[in-house]
Amino acid sequence: METKIFKDPCEQDIMIAADIIKSGGTVAFPTETVYGLGADALDASAAKKIYAAKGRPSDNPLIIHLASPDDVSKYCEKNELFDILASAFMPGPLTVILPKKEIIPYEVTGGLESVAVRVPSDRIANKLIKYSGVPIAAPSANLSGKPSPTCPEHVIADLNGRIDAILCGGRCMIGLESTIVRPESDGSLSVLRPGGITIEMLGALLPDTEINDISFSKPEEGKAPPAPGMKYRHYAPNAKVTILSGEREKVLSFMKEKKNDTDVGFICKKEWSGLLGENALTYSDGMNGMAHELFAILRRFDEMKQIKYIYANMPEEIGIGRAVFNRLIKAAGFDLREID
Ligand code: TXA
Ligand code: MG
Repeated sequence: METKIFKDPCEQDIMIAADIIKSGGTVAFPTETVYGLGADALDASAAKKIYAAKGRPSDNPLIIHLASPDDVSKYCEKNELFDILASAFMPGPLTVILPKKEIIPYEVTGGLESVAVRVPSDRIANKLIKYSGVPIAAPSANLSGKPSPTCPEHVIADLNGRIDAILCGGRCMIGLESTIVRPESDGSLSVLRPGGITIEMLGALLPDTEINDISFSKPEEGKAPPAPGMKYRHYAPNAKVTILSGEREKVLSFMKEKKNDTDVGFICKKEWSGLLGENALTYSDGMNGMAHELFAILRRFDEMKQIKYIYANMPEEIGIGRAVFNRLIKAAGFDLREID
């Protein structure tokens, strides 16, 4: 199929894209986290087109995107905790799992009785949802198994010819997918995936709520993970990734020893690039910079066919660093090495 690509979309382009959604088509669009691949969340056959375009397993449920938290009760059973979270963090990079209402088809939830809801803050995303007049089901707009797209070029590389349209909106502000939380029946809150809304922010908002981060558990053989998406290998570059922890100087000298190996690449801070040669791909501005750059770096390594091994610095596990570490450890297949 031919994919309409709207560069720098104007109001009318967004309306055309909304018409495509209304008539059961698929549109990729920017959000503040990563690009999403959207379709009408109330139309089971439109949702199926998303799975087909991505090559995504059909039991991996989709997030529904709404224009306002006020719309949530049309599609799911909300609770008090949801209202507190929504007033603090919506619109924004937070997804909440709630019991679904009948109107949401099982094709969207992968057969589950719950549904994931999010209200993106991106201007184009918000308008697209408003003009469509329906909730938009959207996973990240990448081919299944590839890093999530953080700029239009990534979406075009993966999905051009497989979907109806792409709204190009520049680079995503955060660069990692939303934080996913689930209110539990015992009053606690589970974090299924860390993201831009950090555990520290959740803790500050909800001092009396028990918050359990269950996002790092390595999926056990034969057991159902809390989020169906956890069981699939994610963010997997072609090269083997290893995360290095330990003292800064020791990690740097380990990396320096390998800098002349042509099949070795590094993910490191800008300050180290001059020390590690041209196979060092760098990020700036600490953990926010790493969040912003990580997926683009992983994609660039895939283009550098000679690279067989990638060594990455251990991110600091505070704030958004936790989300960065979560994505990296999955890309690394849980390979974390202590250098001493
Ligand atoms: O930032 C984001 O969340 C982006 C943008 C486009 O909004 N979307 C995104 O979607 O990352 P996706 O499909 O790549 O990841 C959604 C995750 C999957 O791991 C899925 O298994 C989980 O959310 N999920 C969705 N519905 C769920 C449910 N009812 N219960 C548990 N996990 C669910
Ligand atoms: Mg995804």
